[in-house]
Amino acid sequence: MNYKSILITGGAGFIGSHVYDYFNSIYPEAKITILDKMTYAANKKNIPENFINKNHSFKQTDINDFETCMSITKDLDLVLHLAAESHVGNSFDDSLIFTRSNTLGTHTLLEACKRNKVKRIIHVSTDEVYGENINSKFSETDPLNPTNPYSATKAGAEMIAQAYFRSFKLPINIVRANNIYGIRQYPEKIIPKFILRALDGLPLEIQGNGKHQRHYLSALDFAVALKTILDNFTPGNIFNIASDLELTNLEVANNINLLIRPNDTKDNINFIEDRPFNDSRYAVNDNLLRNLGWMPKKNLISDLPKIIEWYKTNKNWFDK
Ligand SMILES: NC(=O)c1ccc[n+]([C@@H]2O[C@H](COP(=O)([O-])OP(=O)(O)OC[C@H]3O[C@@H](n4cnc5c(N)ncnc54)[C@H](O)[C@@H]3O)[C@@H](O)[C@H]2O)c1
Repeated sequence: MNYKSILITGGAGFIGSHVYDYFNSIYPEAKITILDKMTYAANKKNIPENFINKNHSFKQTDINDFETCMSITKDLDLVLHLAAESHVGNSFDDSLIFTRSNTLGTHTLLEACKRNKVKRIIHVSTDEVYGENINSKFSETDPLNPTNPYSATKAGAEMIAQAYFRSFKLPINIVRANNIYGIRQYPEKIIPKFILRALDGLPLEIQGNGKHQRHYLSALDFAVALKTILDNFTPGNIFNIASDLELTNLEVANNINLLIRPNDTKDNINFIEDRPFNDSRYAVNDNLLRNLGWMPKKNLISDLPKIIEWYKTNKNWFDK
């Protein structure tokens, strides 16, 4: 399908901005609208400067604003829904905003999509909805078992998305991806936080014992996965999106230290108090997606030098 009108929610955030770049490159004729509330994690600089010269627009609004969702989803071919409160750590402090944005906000947006008969929707969820997995890999049919307020609100959003598919045949797919890396990520997340601290000569603070494991997927591979799913669109499908690279938090820190300060004799690691609950490992099986021909082409270890270079030259990116 050749999409003529696309809405990207959360497009001024990290992943949304990469999804915008990729969909802009593959559908240059499409009218693309970015909707974003502009929370602390969003950044005007994530929206390209040539934006105004094109058939694209930006709307600052909360997805809980039903009137705006109604007007913005009119005559849309495609909605890529990424807007969310995304930082697990914050969800241990004030989790109500997570429910409002992630669960109620998704409900509000999907209701507008239903009423306006949007043709295709991808709801971006997370592998965290399954909870932790020590020895095996979760498949899409496994039960959801979230362990922190963030993932619980994402699981709640999925329940609404699945119910809207069953009740109203809403043409929606859900994706559950591993941790995503790339440039423009707000430095509350592990990779940009460690890079910026290392560049400032500070020790890297690791919550707990550093043995928690995460898979890392590039933002570009993620955007390509969305395109693959759309090219094979079957309403109601759910897809895991996995990377083959798994690292402990300590390994991430050591890799960054080695690249930024290779000759430093100190280890530059501080172990600090862990989160109230910290899943030791997430792992998902994404055979469904790989059977459609997708596989990750990029790799965090080989991309790290370029990413570090970007943060070095764009140290002020996150100044407000
Ligand atoms: N970062 C990851 O590793 C990862 C992994 C899997 C899934 N996800 C999911 O991907 C999506 C994007 O994550 P990200 O890392 O880019 O997060 P981010 O925090 O960088 O961006 C989220 C964007 O959503 C916007 N937003 C928040 N609440 C909103 C609301 N109520 N109305 C409108 N806009 C709102 C923010 O302003 C921000 O620009 C999220 O849904 C997240 O759950 C992230």
